[in-house]
Amino acid sequence: TLIPIILGGGSGTRLWPLSRSGYPKQYLALHGDDSLLQQTALRAATLPGAIAPILITSEAQRFLAAEQLRSIGLAAGAIVLEPCARNTAPAVAVGALLALRQDPDAHILVLPSDHVIQNHEAFADAVSSALALSCAGRLVTFGIEPTAPETGYGYIRRGAPIAAAANGFAVDAFVEKPDRARAEAFLAEGHYAWNSGMFLFRAAAYLEELGRFEPAMLAAAELAVERGHEDLDFLRLDAEAFAASPSNSIDYAVMERTDRAAVVAARDLAWSDIGSWSSLSDISPADENGNTLIGDTLAENCRGTYLRAEHRMIAAIGVDDLIVVETADAVLVARKSDVQNVKTIVERLASAG
Ligand code: GDD
Ligand code: MG
Repeated sequence: TLIPIILGGGSGTRLWPLSRSGYPKQYLALHGDDSLLQQTALRAATLPGAIAPILITSEAQRFLAAEQLRSIGLAAGAIVLEPCARNTAPAVAVGALLALRQDPDAHILVLPSDHVIQNHEAFADAVSSALALSCAGRLVTFGIEPTAPETGYGYIRRGAPIAAAANGFAVDAFVEKPDRARAEAFLAEGHYAWNSGMFLFRAAAYLEELGRFEPAMLAAAELAVERGHEDLDFLRLDAEAFAASPSNSIDYAVMERTDRAAVVAARDLAWSDIGSWSSLSDISPADENGNTLIGDTLAENCRGTYLRAEHRMIAAIGVDDLIVVETADAVLVARKSDVQNVKTIVERLASAG
């Protein structure tokens, strides 16, 4: 069986003012009519052989998540609630433990809930290659062709091809979030891909590796599931047991350390993790002047401008390469090249209380 595990517990702030701590970007319809979470669930549902997904999210996001799945007519196999955030490695452990209950030989496809993938066929092809590698005992990553020395990504060095799978390679090295100089060196050297943040492996294989590298984390996840209890549509993890887990991402905790990693060179996915307003703008349909106009907006003599109106009209005249995002209580106006500084604004707002 192939069981999608959707990770929905993150709290992005880089798309402020639309995304807020109580309403992170996975729940927003940033690209198309469905939210990123809904698109993720729908994408998973169309994969051959995949059964209902397990969604792992936070206590605070439970109603938002459940309602969004319900409104697209998809039933989750389980919606698991984390009492506190312990990053992705323990979340995936919980997903793996639940998958094992369904099938001791289950393969799990770990999916972030806040990405865009525009080419569904390429995605399905990549998953089927990954499944072949997973059957051969590998922990599989999906590699994206890198285009810039971004420091917010994991970098995967391709090794020898693996005959069992199309576009499958051994992983020579996995480096999570290198500094700028190393990222530049990786790009110059070639052979490196960005880690997309999606993974596929046997549930048992992940737990085995986690047990080797992070035994306390595995033990905490086991106890949290064992002592967890069902509440309506939700599975609540035991708060005390889960809180005892160390906090770490799957990338640092397992993928950097395992010698069983493989990578599928996932070409043409048209993948984006929408790390900023400018990356969203890059993948959004634009008119002949390069403007993206969403909601009640008017642009006169503008170029390369992204306008998004939620409540009130935005009219822009004679401006280039601007981002304007209007919401009920805040308006962002930024030069496209400066949008990384949105996080500075969010920090200032947070410290002002
Ligand atoms: N359930 C749950 N609990 N989900 C979580 C938690 C948590 O504590 N923390 C994060 N997530 C979810 C996020 O919502 C997101 O969908 C996914 O897990 C990945 O977490 P991020 O925090 O967004 O990771 P990242 O962007 O810094 O890095 C990862 O993704 C990059 C590609 O976008 C890594 O896998 C990198 O190697 C990769 O390049
Ligand atoms: Mg991310």
